[in-house]
Amino acid sequence: MSENTKNKRKLIVTSALPYANSSLHLGHILEAVQTDIWVRFQNQNLNECLYFCADDTHGTPVMLKAQELGLTPEELIKNVKKDHVETYEKYGINFTNFHSTHSDENKKIAQEIYTSAKENGLITKKVINQLYDTKECMFLSDRFIKGMCPKCSAEDQYGDGCGVCNAAFSVEELIDPISTLSNTKPILKESEHIFFDLPSKKESIKKFLSEATLQEPIINKLHEWVDDGLKEWDISRDAPYFGFQIPDEPNKFFYVWLDAPIGYIASAMNWSVENNIDISNLWHKNSEYEIHHFIGKDISYFHGLFWPALLESSKYKLPDGIYVHGFLTLNGEKMSKSKGTGIMASEFADICDPETLRYYFASKLNNKVEDLDLNLDDYVQKINSDLVGKYLNIASRSSSFISKNNNKVLTSLDSELLRDITANRDNIIELYETRQYSKAVRLIMEMADEINKYINENTPWKKDTKDAAGIASVALNGFYYLSIYLKPILPSITKSAFKFLNNPPSNFECVGKELVHEINKYNPILNRLEKIELKKEEKMEDLNSINIEQFVDIDLRVAKIIKASHVEGADKLLKLELSVGDLGKRQVFAGIKSAYEPQDLDERLVILVSNLKPRQMKFGLSEGMVLASSDKKGGVYLVSPDEGAVEGQRVK
Ligand code: 2FM
Ligand code: ZN
Repeated sequence: MSENTKNKRKLIVTSALPYANSSLHLGHILEAVQTDIWVRFQNQNLNECLYFCADDTHGTPVMLKAQELGLTPEELIKNVKKDHVETYEKYGINFTNFHSTHSDENKKIAQEIYTSAKENGLITKKVINQLYDTKECMFLSDRFIKGMCPKCSAEDQYGDGCGVCNAAFSVEELIDPISTLSNTKPILKESEHIFFDLPSKKESIKKFLSEATLQEPIINKLHEWVDDGLKEWDISRDAPYFGFQIPDEPNKFFYVWLDAPIGYIASAMNWSVENNIDISNLWHKNSEYEIHHFIGKDISYFHGLFWPALLESSKYKLPDGIYVHGFLTLNGEKMSKSKGTGIMASEFADICDPETLRYYFASKLNNKVEDLDLNLDDYVQKINSDLVGKYLNIASRSSSFISKNNNKVLTSLDSELLRDITANRDNIIELYETRQYSKAVRLIMEMADEINKYINENTPWKKDTKDAAGIASVALNGFYYLSIYLKPILPSITKSAFKFLNNPPSNFECVGKELVHEINKYNPILNRLEKIELKKEEKMEDLNSINIEQFVDIDLRVAKIIKASHVEGADKLLKLELSVGDLGKRQVFAGIKSAYEPQDLDERLVILVSNLKPRQMKFGLSEGMVLASSDKKGGVYLVSPDEGAVEGQRVK
């Protein structure tokens, strides 16, 4: 199809919003790469494609993580967003906009969608019984409750199911439940919750499933869920909760999964306002844009059922396509933080050129809901064999024959090889469109083999300058077309390739057009990869890990407690007045009340983190932190130096 006859499609594409409580791991990158390749492909195929994403900031885990790090949730999500954006950038993920669900736009749209649902009679209220942690004063979601499995008696199982016998059960059935937050026994407590009437949306969901593009096994699974009977969806959470307050419902907050997908629209709105485009043109019911979501298989339920049901009564358009991928495994094993078998994405980018991982993922991605294994030996082998040994080899072995010909590429009309490569264009486009990247990669490498074979058979090293340049010119035209084919996968490597070719135009329409001009000297674009041995510390780092410089920045000092006292209104804190040698006196609020009587602490030596930013607490200013360990039963143990240590001494 030529440029002017082509019907330009308009597309909005999203990948799932990463949670704002930890750094990205390679599973996040797999999804972002799958999405980014599709977006780049669409634009290169002369469609208009926008890519929106954001951080998923709300909910209990973010709130608790912030507490653990001594930050406010707002501070935490700001740090994490910076970290996420930097990491995605390393992998060449080219968002149109990366926003946050903790934003004015998201609040406005969430409230608006909720209000439409309410006006349509889809919101109900019900009193429910929920486990409540009396020490932390909060209701507990299933992941913060552990106990014994009612089926097989395995200990330490989460509230919603058993990891040993795989039984699913509800949290009330768990034997001897314990709150993992305080290690106390939770009580059942009543609370009124707000529900979205999902069952009444059954027919609309079925209609959506028949109209949208979804993979067969996902459609089947979603139908199964619908037919098994939909339940009312609990969309509220009680304070304390980091999220948006529900309109007219004091102390009730939207459950994180209510406003998370709305974050897709909020990200688009944030971008559209900055670019003077009306959001109604992008996402309202009559928008010309197609909406496509890329997600992992674990969240199909939310995107395939709740999301269309929620959108239907609003003014926003439902998705046209949802594409589900499987999980990433590493050397055949499930990635697990606790077992140290995951790799954080920013660390991996320091070991390998991140673009080569894009290639590896592409070479294994298809349109099925299958898990994908990152086998590090296979990865090294594939990069060296395909990218260095086949594709880039064409340029490196042909370039000298062109430099001998005053850098001029000769006309190569009438090459059967180039006609064959050009004839594959529609096939490659179709494979990208249908997300069968592995097939596209295989076909591209077959063409690279053909070009190398052509060079071998025509032996330019035995020919005179003109003839040799003619052979190399055919090869380099082939290299040009392969670079266009590979561009969605390898944006940066192909950028260098195009630079070598003197920056010819590079959309799909250019395949088959001739390079006839001067080109540049070839500089190696990619080095062979060496075997990858993951060091332990590269396996699973997250925001908790610090490097040695950061450690040295922490000023630990011996301090003497001059006075300890109770704090009115605080159930966990004691106020400590400390003497810290040359640093003078400090006041610290420490959560040690459950284990110590103030009078027992007089004159005791402790270790103080002395350069922690002072924190204004309800009870006064806290100027540092004293070190203590704690156990699961709620015990607290202050850390003290051996006798002889002197207040003010540095601890290293
Ligand atoms: O599962 C997750 O990681 C969620 N943060 C995904 C949210 S996707 C969208 F709905 F916001
Ligand atoms: Zn069990």
